Amino acid sequence: MFSADSASETIRLSDDAIGLDAAAELLGAGGLVAFPTETVYGLGADARNDRAVARVFEAKGRPQFNPLIVHLPDLEAARAIAHLNPLAEDLAAAFWPGALTLVVPLRPDAGLSPLVTAGLPTVGIRVPDSPVAQSLLRRFPAPVAAPSANPSGRISPTSAAHVLEGLSGRIEAVLDGGSCAVGLESTIVLPDRDCPRLLRPGGIPHETIERAIGRPLAAGPVVEDHAPGSPGQMSSHYAPRAPLRLEARSARDPEVYLGFAAAPGCDLNLSPAGDLTEAAANLFGYLRRMDALAQGRRIAVSPIPDHGLGRAINDRLRRAAAPRPAG
Ligand code: TXA
Ligand code: MG
Repeated sequence: MFSADSASETIRLSDDAIGLDAAAELLGAGGLVAFPTETVYGLGADARNDRAVARVFEAKGRPQFNPLIVHLPDLEAARAIAHLNPLAEDLAAAFWPGALTLVVPLRPDAGLSPLVTAGLPTVGIRVPDSPVAQSLLRRFPAPVAAPSANPSGRISPTSAAHVLEGLSGRIEAVLDGGSCAVGLESTIVLPDRDCPRLLRPGGIPHETIERAIGRPLAAGPVVEDHAPGSPGQMSSHYAPRAPLRLEARSARDPEVYLGFAAAPGCDLNLSPAGDLTEAAANLFGYLRRMDALAQGRRIAVSPIPDHGLGRAINDRLRRAAAPRPAG
């Protein structure tokens, strides 16, 4: 029904019953609909529809080998497409709905497009908490594949306006549910019985997860870095156009300065009170604003404590500062 070059105008849908019905209908027809979650906006497609999923990769300009997270309304829907071992069940009970993604074995009869998992025998699944996401997932009778709704490598969107900045004309609609409360992508965990792993730090601090399961999480591999042949190499991601300098205690001329806690002379402050939850919620929006302000100058960023949500904030900042691919 839709083709990549035919998505001419992206419509903005309201988050009331009319908008939600329209969003579900578009998804059912193979359309691409960006929708808010409590973490970031996702670019949703019917996870059973090969063509719709292929269009997600096209719209984002994303390498095909990177699998997508599947969004479901509840645990029961998750069990229908994946095997959850007792550790996965415990994690789901503790953190769903919420900012946790579990990478678990896919049921062969789940009916998902193989493009969603990039041919892997596992699938990343998540039950989001945001009421708008919940309403959409309950209206739509199938799993929804959704990566963050930004062009590949750029800053993730935390508002409908951010989505339109990056993907206008490339997707059918954006469901406008205002700003995302958490502001960082979900924490991704591989609930291996013998060695549970943190695959990506995110909206739920790893310490909180470790406390809930009573055991430590092993580190990585960091999921966005698994480009074949470059294990462990930091790839540019979540990147503004301007270059970044991290751990900056003050700005050097001609930099612009993104502060945290006490940061005299900063242009914007992620959290003057030094609150990591507030900083996480502001991070992506402020990086966009700093980028607009920078006009080619470098962005200096205050040091951020590396615990709790600070771990995920630092992960995103390091990727944003990583060397850019040539061209
Ligand atoms: O908060 C979030 O997680 C947001 C919202 C929209 O839910 N989504 C998001 O998706 O951040 P995305 O596609 O930008 O990042 C998903 C990450 C990718 O880096 C991918 O490699 C990893 O999840 N992933 C997905 N399925 C996987 C699997 N089966 N094995 C390993 N990694 C997986
Ligand atoms: Mg992403």
